[in-house]
Amino acid sequence: MAPFKTAKFKIEGGKPLDGEVCISGAKNAALPILLATILTKDEIVLHNVPDLADVKTSFELLKQLGKQCSYDKNLGTAVISGCVTSKVASYELVKTMRASIMALGPLTAFLGEAAVSLPGGCAIGARPVDLHIKGMKELGADIILDDGYIKAVAPGSERLKGGHINMDKVSVTGTENLMMAATLADGETIIENAALEPEIVDLAKCLRAMGAKIKGDGTSRICIEGVKELHGCEHTVVADRIEAGTYLIAGIATHGIVRCVNTLPSTLDVLLQKLKQANAIIEVDGTTITADMRNRRILPVDIVTAPHPGFPTDMQAQFTVLNSLADGVSSVTETIFENRFMHIAELNRMGAHLEIRGNVVICSGVKMLKGAQVMSSDLRASASLVIAGLAAEGTSIVDRIYHMDRGYEHIEAKIRNLGGTIERIY
Ligand code: EPZ
Repeated sequence: MAPFKTAKFKIEGGKPLDGEVCISGAKNAALPILLATILTKDEIVLHNVPDLADVKTSFELLKQLGKQCSYDKNLGTAVISGCVTSKVASYELVKTMRASIMALGPLTAFLGEAAVSLPGGCAIGARPVDLHIKGMKELGADIILDDGYIKAVAPGSERLKGGHINMDKVSVTGTENLMMAATLADGETIIENAALEPEIVDLAKCLRAMGAKIKGDGTSRICIEGVKELHGCEHTVVADRIEAGTYLIAGIATHGIVRCVNTLPSTLDVLLQKLKQANAIIEVDGTTITADMRNRRILPVDIVTAPHPGFPTDMQAQFTVLNSLADGVSSVTETIFENRFMHIAELNRMGAHLEIRGNVVICSGVKMLKGAQVMSSDLRASASLVIAGLAAEGTSIVDRIYHMDRGYEHIEAKIRNLGGTIERIY
């Protein structure tokens, strides 16, 4: 039988990128916000929703739950309405998108019960959801794990109750799931050791527009005063800081100049500092960020990933490409996920000198990478291989780019607009 044909990118590298790229709405804000629509039967209008595989999967999930969804991908506008009628987020769907776990909180809060498939692990790690479950129990939910599903029931199948949740570890979707659940709980909820990511702040903004009473989002202590019901609203999704960072690094790795428009620079402070340390000229003007690396050599920069506002783990693979081309030795330390180095072997096939020692990669910079056939393993690893292909001498073929389609809108068009040579082949 012919092997399953997966889409690939064919990239001609070695040319400096030069141009402007319009940054889309953030995948990691759009996903929880789409699931927050479960919390009301009223109409929600969302703008700047990116046209991504994971967004399409979220619409599928919402429709399976009984919501009406329409999406104009040219405008980036989604309209969600109607009352959920089903409590089940099926395995078939959850296995394609782990973020579906965030249906657990809203379904239990709105319907009084939920049955959400346990998401499996993924390439970058086991990705447990024990903190989501522990927090739901603190909100009074009765939880059993049965048949690969998390089955939750609110007290008397009615309403969750406010609680004092202490997150043992900082968890982005854990914080989001529980914040959404608490909006309709009876009484006050405190979430300690909450994640501080900008996408959480954007979700809280949308929930407040729906009538939720939330304070402290963006800090490690979030207070939610439960209300009886939430209403419709209109919300514009925040810019994608990881997409912006990815294109800035692509410009720097190719010794070009890239201007990202429609960004939110305040969400990228640490990354921009590190790019300056790599010897890039970084200019911020309102919502535009420009990286200029023309005729400049790349300096090595040590990186340690950390929860926001630290260096984002979602930028680790991309920055490693920069360090692989730097004048000198640097280290990249991954502290969030246990297996987020799947791109290292692929980069070494392109001539990089990267050595894994536990959760650290020692990068000995080389003058030039060479185009090669490489394989994506996860979303951000695929982005790092595309950047490496654009920087490398010669032709690269990046396979399994369905990973990249999950998180980067209109990739080929945006890269071509920057002067890159890329085409999708099968
Ligand atoms: C979110 O994943 C993002 N996904 C990830 O982006 C991002 O890499 C990650 O946060 C860290 O910033 C979305 O927002 C949809 P965590 P999430 O819970 O929430 C452990 C991308 O590329 N943990 O913050 O799943 C976990 O194993 C994706 O866009 C538990 O132990 O990550 C990890 O080591 C990849 N138990 C750490 O906490 C739990 O119940 C942080 O994970 C939950 C998490």
